[in-house]
Amino acid sequence: MDTPLRLEVIIASVRPERFAPVVADWFVRTARTRPEFDTGVIDLLDTPLPLDLTGTAATAGFRERLAAADAFAVVTSEYNHGYPASVKTAFDSAKHEWRAKPIGFVSYGGLSGGLRAVEQLRQVVAEIHMVSVRESVSFHRARKQFDAEGNTGDGAAIDAADRMLTQLAWWGRTLHDARAADPYPG
Ligand SMILES: Cc1cc2nc3c(=O)[nH]c(=O)nc-3n(C[C@H](O)[C@H](O)[C@H](O)COP(=O)(O)O)c2cc1C
Repeated sequence: MDTPLRLEVIIASVRPERFAPVVADWFVRTARTRPEFDTGVIDLLDTPLPLDLTGTAATAGFRERLAAADAFAVVTSEYNHGYPASVKTAFDSAKHEWRAKPIGFVSYGGLSGGLRAVEQLRQVVAEIHMVSVRESVSFHRARKQFDAEGNTGDGAAIDAADRMLTQLAWWGRTLHDARAADPYPG
């Protein structure tokens, strides 16, 4: 496939004082070094999706972005051993747009590095017919893993990001071609 896959990176945290942009900016920079992807960012802070799931202009724009995507990565924090409510609303605000597409997770937090949120998100995305790739990127004690320029020396995370992007590219390409040849039955 000559055209790059469209990868959308979704930023989950919407807290005013959030740490999310540091992690997300690093991951987006990393993804943009990969020629397999044309990488966009959907920041849920700028995407006011209603909690009651009514369709709004913001919802329609969000769903259009999802529909045009071949692969997703969610950058997520962990709150009280779970994922942020904002990202659940995002998953619940669309339906067919997610289906038969791969997703990877970049998490951060305290000692657990957000891994509990990621394992819970795997259950959610299975219900909406997505493939969650095996590799995930995790930052334990996240604020200590980045320098003032937003770079990280966390070798495990750097390696995991590389493997995760390779897995997203394989699934993204494979499922893109499969959907085109034979629409996903849902
Ligand atoms: C309500 C709340 C609950 C939290 N619960 C956890 C937790 O269960 N596990 C963890 O590792 N960190 C937890 N933290 C710490 C967050 O991982 C940390 O504040 C992180 O920066 C949050 O991401 P954000 O700043 O991008 O929103 C919690 C933070 C908040 C605000």
